[in-house]
Amino acid sequence: MFAPTGWPQEHLADPYPVYRRYREQDSVQRGEGGTWYVFGYDEAYEVLTSPAFGRGPGGPVSDRSPALRRLVQNWLVFMDPPRHTELRDLLQATFSPKVVRALRPCVTAIAAELLAPLQEKPLIDLVRDFAAPFPLLVISELLGVPSERRDWFRERAVWLQGASTSRAGRTGRTGADLAERAARELAAYFSEQARLRARAPREDLLSLLVAAARKGTALSEDEIVGTCVHLLTAGHETTTHLLTKGTLALLRRPGVLRRLRSDPALLPTAVEELVRFDSPVQMVSRWARQDQLLGGKRIRAGEKVVPVLGAANRDPARFPAPDLLRLDRPPARHTGFGLGIHYCLGASLARAEAEIGLAALFAAFPGMTLPSEPPVFDDDLIFHGPTRFPLVTTIS
Ligand code: HEM
Repeated sequence: MFAPTGWPQEHLADPYPVYRRYREQDSVQRGEGGTWYVFGYDEAYEVLTSPAFGRGPGGPVSDRSPALRRLVQNWLVFMDPPRHTELRDLLQATFSPKVVRALRPCVTAIAAELLAPLQEKPLIDLVRDFAAPFPLLVISELLGVPSERRDWFRERAVWLQGASTSRAGRTGRTGADLAERAARELAAYFSEQARLRARAPREDLLSLLVAAARKGTALSEDEIVGTCVHLLTAGHETTTHLLTKGTLALLRRPGVLRRLRSDPALLPTAVEELVRFDSPVQMVSRWARQDQLLGGKRIRAGEKVVPVLGAANRDPARFPAPDLLRLDRPPARHTGFGLGIHYCLGASLARAEAEIGLAALFAAFPGMTLPSEPPVFDDDLIFHGPTRFPLVTTIS
């Protein structure tokens, strides 16, 4: 029976043979806790795009974390229409391609700034030294978090990531305690900043959100604050994983990497293929709104259904030779950024960050190689990627 927890490192690093086994048995099957897991592309497409599946009852956060709960209740990704449609339209207009285009030079400068001090180091940790701070600094810039606040902001982003950890750390606090503290402090920070922006707007997304609220678009202060923290969490770890797993896939395929280096115009296609090939988000959740059939299985109203995006993206019925990383793969909508009404709001920013970040990394370290010690993968199969990634930057 499929369970998304308790996997050995070997399967965490390469979950695709496991998915294949399940998909070949049945593309929709009941797993741990009665949840339905969806391994086939067509069935995942149906769940993601059909109004017969929606968000669940309540939020994903316990009552013991009131500050986190209040934030998460205002996250677009956990809303259903009609509020989802209203807020999404507003955010889409605010977080526009123009805003992303204007951010590109700054994204390039952040990548260069992070890579410069690494030039002298023969061995780096790709996660710690580049792939984690890079998207966090970009989001700080987008939201207008000043440079002296960025270490503080980063620490709280890390605490939020650990929200589901119940084990107490050295300080005696559990991941949930720290996440609750991060939620409280971030909410207080963004509320205050929103009030300041109302009096004196700046060139940042927070000012645009405040301006939208003042135009009578009925965006509450809780929604502004929740959205800022949502962008921080949605756009941070995901992009980190795309950079690390993308680098890993390319270093393991020197021929593909050589081709990419010799023709950088291929970067946008490569990034799209990397999101399909080893998706940073491997699973999302929905709940059935009514009794219905899915892949021949009877799903009852109220049951939880989990499209396994990583499995759908390797379905040979949709992507021929799915285990090959191909720069010339014809476009065929993968599910790596989701599909339907919850399609990733930050996809164009994520693509820009990955193109700029990977190009900067390859230019900084033309001779980089993988050491014998492989990357260590986190035991999370939702946001999926390594927590440690040793990388040899020079040929000695
Ligand atoms: C939604 C993936 C980067 C903001 C989603 C969803 C996926 C996804 C799969 C759909 C969730 C669902 O259907 O339940 C990714 C990946 C990224 C990335 C793979 C990087 C490689 C970003 C960035 C931002 C962002 C940079 C913003 C700064 C959002 C938001 C939603 C979302 C706000 C919710 C959209 C809605 O519910 O309408 N993302 N994401 N993401 N993403 Fe991303």
